[in-house]
Amino acid sequence: MKNIIITGGAGFIGSHVVRLFVNKYPNYKIINLDKLTYAGNLANLKDIEDKPNYKFVRMDICDLDGVLKLMQDEQVDGIIHLAAESHVDRSIKDPFTFAQTNVMGTLSLLQAAKAYWNGEWEGKRFYHISTDEVYGALEMTHPDGIEPPFTTKASSGKHHLAYGEKFFTEDLKYQPHSPYSAAKASSDHFVRAFHDTFGMPTIVTNCSNNYGPYQFPEKLIPLFINNIRHRKPLPVYGKGENVRDWLYVEDHARAIDLIFHEGKIAETYNIGGFNEWKNIDIIKVVINTVDRLLGRKEGEDMDLITYVTDRAGHDMRYAIDSSKLQRELGWEPSLQFEEGIEKTVRWYLDNQEWMDNVTSGDYQKYYDDMYQGR
Ligand code: NAD
Ligand code: DAU
Repeated sequence: MKNIIITGGAGFIGSHVVRLFVNKYPNYKIINLDKLTYAGNLANLKDIEDKPNYKFVRMDICDLDGVLKLMQDEQVDGIIHLAAESHVDRSIKDPFTFAQTNVMGTLSLLQAAKAYWNGEWEGKRFYHISTDEVYGALEMTHPDGIEPPFTTKASSGKHHLAYGEKFFTEDLKYQPHSPYSAAKASSDHFVRAFHDTFGMPTIVTNCSNNYGPYQFPEKLIPLFINNIRHRKPLPVYGKGENVRDWLYVEDHARAIDLIFHEGKIAETYNIGGFNEWKNIDIIKVVINTVDRLLGRKEGEDMDLITYVTDRAGHDMRYAIDSSKLQRELGWEPSLQFEEGIEKTVRWYLDNQEWMDNVTSGDYQKYYDDMYQGR
């Protein structure tokens, strides 16, 4: 029996993690602790909200006393921490909110867990979900003059396409560039400090770009799917040459489950898909897929592509080396990108009501309608 708090469970990745744990572990009690900022949407969890092993608590992770009381009341032995401000563009406009939630919020959670567990660490776990962006940006290099992408072999032995020779490994020094990644980096340091100073059983993982259902449509893939559907311009930052490593969100959730249960205390694991794409190439795949699924002529919406001013400090390339996780815990991404993107586009087109509720703001009434007075 385990009582686990999952923070940020009403967000994109968190909702997939909550769903996986609630369905897979009927003997666990899963407490979704979420403040419901603009990014939190309880409709993401409609299908499991009535399960007996699930509970939602609206709370700010910065509320140390509230979290401590919740841990005492629910006898919590594990925390999986996803709550964060997550959008780079917002962090450029409003860095304070990112410091408050990502740094101070994480520190509050750590302090609450330290106070409640009180040095009895046996069977306890504080698992912090972080990002590959803390490592900074990689260069697009050309080995032996070969133009990227070129085929390369990971230390796991697998071949994959890459846009450069270097990858993010767990031992790299942190070099965050955006206020978002600076705040995430700081929170990662606090988590490790609580292990090193107090002996708290912590784990940190750093994952690449996720895609899939329930992602807030400020992020590239859902924003563009919705814009293509409504034939609105697609704002491509800079030249669209930046490279990201994409992972289907359910593969991330599976990795989190595995690492929570079998990962080594005080370790860091990188999670990624060995799946690098230039933004402009991914955008073309998304346009073709939406057009095809809507019965339009494939590619007819290419003229929606609109090059706009680049994001300030825009990191050129992210590429995770997830060999350690593959080697030590046997995790692998389950979906090929072509399959994952088809599934994702189909989901957004089939769930237009979800998208309309988000873009109209109606999703924010879900809590009042469904939870007030419960
Ligand atoms: P998201 O923005 O979709 O969701 C964040 C959730 O946190 C929301 O439900 C929001 O209401 C909640 N939240 C925000 N501030 C809070 C607070 N003060 N107290 C309680 N809850 C609060 O984020 P996401 O994309 O699902 O990312 C989840 C985590 O994974 C983040 O920590 C992010 O840094 C990390 N991550 C994301 C990606 C990605 O591609 N999206 C990749 C790697 C790591
Ligand atoms: O790498 C992991 C990170 O991935 C997570 O830590 C972040 O929480 C998550 O938001 C994501 O960050 P990115 O900045 O990479 O994701 P985003 O979807 O905002 O942008 C993906 C790429 O597309 C990036 O190079 C910027 C570009 N872009 C984005 C938007 C929203 C555009 O060209 N146009 C856009 O309108």
